[in-house]
Amino acid sequence: MSNDRLIIQGGKPLFGDVKISGAKNAVLPLISISLLFSNGFSLKNVPDLVDTRLMIKLINSLGIMTKFYDGTIDFYGEPQNIEAPKELVSKMRASVLVLAPLLSKRNNALIPMPGGCEIGERPINLHIDALKKLGAETSFQNGFLRATLPFGEFRGNKIKFPQVSVGATECAIMAATLAKGKTIIYNAAREPEIIDLGKCLNLAGAKIKGLGTEKIEINGVEKLNPVTYSVIPDRIEAGSFAIIAGITKGEINLLNLNPKDLNSFFKTLKQANINVDIYDKTVTIKGSYKINSVNIKTEPHPGFPTDLQAQFMSLMSIANGCSVIEENIFENRFMHVPELCKMDASIKVNGNKAIVSGVQQLNGSSVKATDLRASMSLIAASLNAKGKSIVNDLSHLKRGYENFEDKLFNLGANLK
Ligand code: UD1
Repeated sequence: MSNDRLIIQGGKPLFGDVKISGAKNAVLPLISISLLFSNGFSLKNVPDLVDTRLMIKLINSLGIMTKFYDGTIDFYGEPQNIEAPKELVSKMRASVLVLAPLLSKRNNALIPMPGGCEIGERPINLHIDALKKLGAETSFQNGFLRATLPFGEFRGNKIKFPQVSVGATECAIMAATLAKGKTIIYNAAREPEIIDLGKCLNLAGAKIKGLGTEKIEINGVEKLNPVTYSVIPDRIEAGSFAIIAGITKGEINLLNLNPKDLNSFFKTLKQANINVDIYDKTVTIKGSYKINSVNIKTEPHPGFPTDLQAQFMSLMSIANGCSVIEENIFENRFMHVPELCKMDASIKVNGNKAIVSGVQQLNGSSVKATDLRASMSLIAASLNAKGKSIVNDLSHLKRGYENFEDKLFNLGANLK
């Protein structure tokens, strides 16, 4: 646990503009594909996050050289090592994204098993099954996954996922990009971050069709050409600030986002009686005095995102009436519930459902941030609450929200 904490004096409506940063969940796979290039490439609109820096360190440890400046990363060189260091992988589950590109370029990879995290077990069986379908052989030794390509290359095949997985779909796309022949992925994830990965690869010469649908077809190519690519805006950061506008009954302009990436979320906000005005790259969110309770279920895209469930629960905790929040993606994603209850929210958990009875007023308290999105839900609740709140252990937040203190401060939040 880190000593970093945020002291918030709540009850103040927030007003103003927030420029949405590049997406964490898009930039991590995009950094991994630097391993597939032969002559480097560049990324722009890169958010400066703890996770971004960890992923850069990881590919540096595999032999790729980088220059990170002003939201740009320039990548040079090709992978020289095949072993991912345990101390980096253990800090970030998304490290497993280097597996497919490393195998593709080096025919061998040795990756420590990432293990579970705060929100669930998070196995990587679907990643491994996909790689095996494309010709990899794998074995486990002393907590490490060893993978090899006995034919010296991936070979295109059909991959049918038994369940939708963002990471496994990304793994299959990265493996199939330089494979020999054609790969078809069925039951692929349709998240905007997957489309972003595919678009960048296509710009560099890959042949990927069907992005954003359940069936993705990839014709392997021999090499990728250097390109410069700009990362999409972070829809989860945008959604988090939209909830802050709603919960503080203020008005916030979200600048520089792709509104359509949040269609289902904005629809739900409107049902909750929050005003959502959508323009081209800007969305204005205006809170109201009467927040309606709305039931939600988290689902793969285009459904309601699990990464906004905790923040939405904070909003529902002050709604009129009772709402049921169903978590269908991760098995342990209600860690924010006891913390919200410390602020006098009324929430009961029954299996994968949380039953939230709206209260008139949350009250400030000292709470502990337990994971990335839970941290933002506690900050949103604290901004609404009467009196002072202390949100402890901000290390999680820094993994996924760029400049969050400055952004909140500029909106008029009373925080230290
Ligand atoms: C990504 C996001 C994360 C988001 C999640 C769901 C990144 C870096 N992270 O995580 O923020 O919450 O999508 O939208 O993009 N599963 C298996 N076996 C596997 C892989 C996944 O059982 O091999 C399970 C997971 O435990 C989970 C579900 O499938 O219950 C969905 O996980 P997945 O979509 O793979 O999430 P991530 O890619 O890890």
